[in-house]
Amino acid sequence: MPDRAPINFTRGVPADESYPLGELTEAAAAALREQGAAALRYGPATGFAPLRAWLAEWQGVAPEQVLIANGSLQLIEFACLAWLSPGDVVLTERPTYDRTLTILRRHGIRPVGVDVGPDGPDVDALEDVLRRERPKMFYVIPDFQNPSGATCSRGKRERLVELAEAYDVLLLEDAPYRLLRYRGNDEPTLASLAPQRTLHMTSFTKLLAPGVRMGFVVAPADRIATLARVAEDTYISPAYLAHAIVHEWCRRGLLSPQIERLKALYAPRLEACLGALDRHMPHAQATRPEGGFFLSLTLPEGVSTATVRARAAERDLNLADGQAFFPDGGGERFLRLPFCALTPAEIDDGVARLAATVEAVRGV
Ligand SMILES: Cc1ncc(COP(=O)(O)O)c(C=O)c1O
Repeated sequence: MPDRAPINFTRGVPADESYPLGELTEAAAAALREQGAAALRYGPATGFAPLRAWLAEWQGVAPEQVLIANGSLQLIEFACLAWLSPGDVVLTERPTYDRTLTILRRHGIRPVGVDVGPDGPDVDALEDVLRRERPKMFYVIPDFQNPSGATCSRGKRERLVELAEAYDVLLLEDAPYRLLRYRGNDEPTLASLAPQRTLHMTSFTKLLAPGVRMGFVVAPADRIATLARVAEDTYISPAYLAHAIVHEWCRRGLLSPQIERLKALYAPRLEACLGALDRHMPHAQATRPEGGFFLSLTLPEGVSTATVRARAAERDLNLADGQAFFPDGGGERFLRLPFCALTPAEIDDGVARLAATVEAVRGV
């Protein structure tokens, strides 16, 4: 019998208390009342037109440059179907988001990794890999990366874009955490540096709720038209009712205050995680992000994540597998800590349990 509550440093999910239930209840009633059948019938695969127009204005682009899907992960699937074939190579950061790797492999695509440091991908290694592997696409999470917590510096973004131009590579910029910056200053998006060769994805999963299943991509209009054909062949049209509710909620000016509330909720959780590491694991090799959902650790030499994970379970501490984030091997000592869905007290307790586990595994 567990003698204390389990702590889950496993999945990168929003905090339940972040969901604006009252606002969504009212937005849902108003959307149905005001949009009527338009929110319930089939329509263009690019998404519910009023939401598409709202997002385009928010992003400063034409509506023809926006496609809304049922979550942003599905957009990666669509990109595979639209532009890639079995046997193709796609570059990713190493580590990267594990579900993207699953999708790429399911399409027979070979993911090849480029090491990512706290300030983004190793751009010298990137050039070597581009020369050697001739990839068609580079999947990048430049802001508060899942799983490492890294943010790509401006200099690296500029170099990355230069290399993408030189080797004619399409950039798939996945930016679900970009707006959740708790301190410091924004770096330019890859899309702003190379609009013609970048598909920039945003998700409402982390800004509103995963349950709305809403993500969108901004790209050149011809790319959007291609994605729209794939989307139509997949589901005719996406979840219009969710789009209509989200549109009503956005139209009421509720997105910006929600983002401010999320920052106020999550910033102390990041601080709690950093503070707990300083206190309980002062020698830990950890990233120190300024936003997002994750930080990551490299465990000490000789200490594997698999062993720590098994032993942590005995202390009711649940950890995720580190190796799943690595496209082509490695990650034996990698550990991701998602901190947003835990209270500061749980985070401190969890890091203390982790520190005790690591010490027990090292035999000190
Ligand atoms: C980098 C990244 N991309 C995509 C997703 C999935 O987002 P969605 O819920 O919009 O499909 C996540 C969710 O954790 C993520 O971390």
